[in-house]
Amino acid sequence: MRSSNPLHEPAAHLPDGVQMPMLGFGTWQISGEQCRRAVATALGAGYRHLDTAAMYRNEAEVGQALVDSGLPREDVFITTKLLPADAARAREALEDSLAVLNVPSVDLYLIHSPPDEGGPGIWEQLLAAREEGLARAVGVSNYSIDEVDELIEATGVAPAVKQVRWAPSVHDPVFLAESAERGVVVEGYSPFRSSDLEDQTLGAIADAHDVTPAQVVLRWHLHHDIVVIPKSVTPQRIRANADLFGFSLTADEVARIDALAG
Ligand SMILES: NC(=O)c1ccc[n+]([C@@H]2O[C@H](COP(=O)([O-])OP(=O)(O)OC[C@H]3O[C@@H](n4cnc5c(N)ncnc54)[C@H](OP(=O)(O)O)[C@@H]3O)[C@@H](O)[C@H]2O)c1
Repeated sequence: MRSSNPLHEPAAHLPDGVQMPMLGFGTWQISGEQCRRAVATALGAGYRHLDTAAMYRNEAEVGQALVDSGLPREDVFITTKLLPADAARAREALEDSLAVLNVPSVDLYLIHSPPDEGGPGIWEQLLAAREEGLARAVGVSNYSIDEVDELIEATGVAPAVKQVRWAPSVHDPVFLAESAERGVVVEGYSPFRSSDLEDQTLGAIADAHDVTPAQVVLRWHLHHDIVVIPKSVTPQRIRANADLFGFSLTADEVARIDALAG
C-alpha cells in the first residue's frame, strides 16, 4: 500500500488504471553523484515521479537513489525514454534501461523523439513491451498531433502521454484540446528554461500569493492539467518547486499567464 504523501495527488489517469503524479522531477543534464544527490533530495522532499532517459546517461543514479530512499518501488512513478538510435531494437533498449535502473518495469516508456521513418513499427514494439509488463504505460515525446494520428491510425492505440516543451511562452490551447480529444495526457518539459522568470506579470501574481514566479509557472501547468517535471540541483529550489499545493490561481490570473504566449 502507498504511503500517505500529498504529491501522489493530483494524478493524471492513464489507461489500465495507471496513476501518474502531476508533478515529477526532471533529470536532464545531471549525472553521476550530482544526479544521485538531487534525486535523493527530491524523494526526500516528497516527489514521487522521476523523469529520466537513456540519453541522459543517469538511469543508474536514478535507480540507486530510489534504492537508497528505502521507498517501495510502487510508490515512485518512473519514466524513461527510447534513444532515437535504438528505434529498431526498442524492446531490447527498454530491457537495457530496466537493467541499468535496476527495476523490473517502468511506469512509462516514451519514444524520445519521432524517428525519420518507421514510426508505427516502433510504436507496435512499445505496445508489445507494455503487454509483456515491461512498462505500465507507453507514450511519445516531441511528436506533433499529425505524428500521433499516424500511430493511432496504424494500431488503433493512442499514446497514453505526450511529453512536449511547455510554458506560458508556448501555451497552445488548440494542442491541448486536440490531445484531450485523443485521450492523450500532455506532459510539459523545460517549464523554466522556456520562461522569463523576471516577467512582470508572473512577478505580480507571485507577489499576490507570496510565492515565487517559478511556483506560479508550475501551478499554472497544473491548472491546465499538464503534468510538469521541473529540474533543479539546488535543494532549496527542489523543495520550493514541490510546494505548490498551498495556493491556487484565479481564473483572471490564469488568463493573464495564458496571454504571455508569443
Ligand atoms: N523529452 C524531451 O525531449 C525533454 C527535453 C528537455 C527536458 N526534458 C525533461 O524535462 C525536465 C525539465 O526540463 P529542463 O531540465 O530542460 O529545464 P527546467 O526544469 O525548465 O529548468 C531547469 C533550470 O531552471 C533552474 N531552476 C530550477 N528551479 C528553479 C527555481 N525555483 N527558480 C529559478 N530557477 C530554477 C535550474 O537551476 P539549478 O538546477 O541550478 O537549480 C536549471 O537551470 C528535464 O530535466 C527532463 O527530465 C525532456
